[in-house]
Amino acid sequence: MPILCIILVLMLSSASSISCCTEHERNCLLQFLAGLSQDGGLAASWRHGTGCCSWEGITCGSMKNEGEVAAVTDVLLGAKKLQGSISPALGSLPGLLRLNLSHNSLSGSLPSEIMSSGSIVILDVSFNGLAGVPTTTGSRLKRRPLQVLNISSNQFAGEFPWWDDGDTTMANLIALNASNNSFTAQMPVAPLCGGASPSLALLDLSHNQFTGEVSPALAGCSMLKVLRVGMNNLSGTLPAELFEATSLEHLSLANNGLQGELGGAHMAKLINLVTLDLGGNSFHGEIPESIGQLKNLEMLSLGNNNMSGNLPPSLGNCTSLITIDLKFNNFSGDLGKVDFSTLRNLKTLDLLQNSFSGVLPESIYSCSNLTALRLSVNPIHGEISSRIGNLRDIAKAFRALKSSRNLTTLLIGRNFWGEPMPQDEAIESFESIRYLSIYHCSLIGNIPLWLSKLKNLESLDLSNNQLTGAMPSWINSLSNLFYLDLSNNSLTGQIPATLTEMPMLKLDDYEAHLTRQFDLPVYQGEIPPSICNLTNLQMLDLSINHLIGPIPEGLNKLNFLSELNISNNDLEGPIPTGGQMSTFSSSSFGGNPKLCGSILAKYCDPVEAVPTVPDISENEYGGKVISAVAFGVFFGIGVLYDQLVLSSYFCPK
Ligand SMILES: *[C@@H]1O[C@H](CO)[C@@H](O)[C@H](O)[C@H]1NC(C)=O
Ligand SMILES: *[C@@H]1O[C@H](CO)[C@@H](O)[C@H](O)[C@H]1NC(C)=O
Ligand SMILES: *[C@@H]1O[C@H](CO)[C@@H](O)[C@H](O)[C@H]1NC(C)=O
Ligand SMILES: *[C@@H]1O[C@H](CO)[C@@H](O)[C@H](O)[C@H]1NC(C)=O
Ligand SMILES: *[C@@H]1O[C@H](CO)[C@@H](O)[C@H](O)[C@H]1NC(C)=O
Ligand SMILES: *[C@@H]1O[C@H](CO)[C@@H](O)[C@H](O)[C@H]1NC(C)=O
Ligand SMILES: *[C@@H]1O[C@H](CO)[C@@H](O)[C@H](O)[C@H]1NC(C)=O
Ligand SMILES: *[C@@H]1O[C@H](CO)[C@@H](O)[C@H](O)[C@H]1NC(C)=O
Repeated sequence: MPILCIILVLMLSSASSISCCTEHERNCLLQFLAGLSQDGGLAASWRHGTGCCSWEGITCGSMKNEGEVAAVTDVLLGAKKLQGSISPALGSLPGLLRLNLSHNSLSGSLPSEIMSSGSIVILDVSFNGLAGVPTTTGSRLKRRPLQVLNISSNQFAGEFPWWDDGDTTMANLIALNASNNSFTAQMPVAPLCGGASPSLALLDLSHNQFTGEVSPALAGCSMLKVLRVGMNNLSGTLPAELFEATSLEHLSLANNGLQGELGGAHMAKLINLVTLDLGGNSFHGEIPESIGQLKNLEMLSLGNNNMSGNLPPSLGNCTSLITIDLKFNNFSGDLGKVDFSTLRNLKTLDLLQNSFSGVLPESIYSCSNLTALRLSVNPIHGEISSRIGNLRDIAKAFRALKSSRNLTTLLIGRNFWGEPMPQDEAIESFESIRYLSIYHCSLIGNIPLWLSKLKNLESLDLSNNQLTGAMPSWINSLSNLFYLDLSNNSLTGQIPATLTEMPMLKLDDYEAHLTRQFDLPVYQGEIPPSICNLTNLQMLDLSINHLIGPIPEGLNKLNFLSELNISNNDLEGPIPTGGQMSTFSSSSFGGNPKLCGSILAKYCDPVEAVPTVPDISENEYGGKVISAVAFGVFFGIGVLYDQLVLSSYFCPK
């Protein structure tokens, strides 16, 4: 019982410190309501005769001092579909701390009485249709409490009202967002943060029509952390004074008409920079070596300038980098010399349209977070190695490579365990691909149709996955394919007759092609002698699938076959006799309960009807096959010796 009493007493005493809304406050609010042409339903709750502390959007606070009568501390009416004008009466609410009218359709001006309120600390009128120039009123010498002023995304126009040194109205200002208006004038001639607003930490003037040079007065902005003046008409060079604002964390001057070089010595002063966005200007020269001192830099955007030279090796010291955008410049040099391995957080690297040469650096594969890599329109050569698989999932890796239209080799085996095989048509952009290996990934899904569009494909390894569905009959449309490995999947259906009609099997002038094969774009120095073994590999391995139906008669005529493994499927019918098939042992056919033939010591019932597949005419096929195959048709599986050599060749450990 006594405890309950104490609680009650406490509750009563705290309640008594919350004052009621005064008559004056209620009138101020009702004047505001009266100025609205659309009140978004406010009138239903804002009624005469009721305490305004319970009105929608109104918060009352406890009295700070005895004797103070004001109660309304917050007017929070963001996104209430309000239309009409803002009454100056809101500026007379004596205890108002926060006024938020953002995301409405308010028009007219922002009353100077509100700007100069003796109590408002946070004023947000962003995303409205306010016009004119926001001005202050009253004594220039009176310090107003305003700390946050968000007038962004309105239709303010004309000369920005820079408060000069002697004006202390904005003395407490910490954040000023005036972006996305039509302000004109030079950047502050009077030192805004040096004098009028010494605590200014955020200044966003982007998306306006400011002209002139970047103000040297910024030197006085010792508290400034965010400076955004992008999308204006600034010109000239970066003043040395800018680099005295050493608290800067986010600097964006993108899309202006700035020029000159990025002074090396100065750059290092902005030691706290997290974002540096100078894209879309006319800067020239090199990236200064001193950039390496910016250890917190996460975003470096210098795209669409006229910069040149090599990337400084010190860039690798900026270990926080997430985004590097250098597109549309004239950077050059051997990209292979840049060590990206320290940039573990890198997600986006855009080098589109520069003059980089050399090979794609191996070190880029250490960037396991990389999701977007654009190297197009550079004379970079070489190919992407299996290590790009570090880029987590296969769909992402493909997307990352999408713009690499000239990619010829993609070897990403032993990654992406158990993911779906991308079926996306967009992967067609790999139009130049010649060597594709996505083996041992346990990928699920069908053999995707987009593969049939890769007309340059010469080597395809999809072995050791869990692909289902039929072996595609379009296989013979890959006119350059000479190496195909589909072993150890879960393919079903028949062995398509088209398999024996692959153009590379029919080729006469294979020697010309043989030369081409030796032009493999390997990234590991010399071509190992073992590649020559390819020409002797003559095997077909379709084991461990779920293939059904008969063994195509055509296979029996492929006299080159020295190794055959079609075991562990669900094939049926007689093993063709009197040809190449009879040279193999039972192990080539085992694990197919419905197969029969003398090799398996299981004789076929002569009456049993066995489905047949069209034969391949001797004339059309015969002799040519033998010569062509010597050049190296290789249907292989990873466990065989040559494949091991091949995979270690393609995918050096
Ligand atoms: C004002 O309200 C909007 C929501 O309508 C909110 O996004 C914004 O952060 C608020 N402004 C301030 C300064 O809190
Ligand atoms: C206006 O700017 C202030 C200060 O940066 C911010 O807190 C507020 O969220 C902004 N309002 C909106 C609607 O974004
Ligand atoms: C300023 O306001 C705009 C919206 O009007 C917003 O997009 C921008 O992020 C804000 N600037 C800062 C630095 O918060
Ligand atoms: C600029 O302001 C307009 C009008 O308020 C708004 O629709 C638009 O989204 C704003 N743009 C940005 C980038 O904030
Ligand atoms: C780009 O820089 C080169 C010299 O590096 C200069 O000749 C050229 O005029 C510059 N182009 C522009 C558009 O500034
Ligand atoms: C790009 O830089 C190279 C030197 O690296 C120079 O020869 C070439 O003229 C430059 N191209 C342009 C468009 O400035
Ligand atoms: C990419 O291939 C196209 C067409 O073959 C060619 O015109 C272009 O020069 C190549 N680009 C590079 C950077 O090699
Ligand atoms: C078949 O492939 C799976 C991966 O999908 C692998 O785990 C398994 O070891 C392979 N089996 C053989 C016999 O190679």
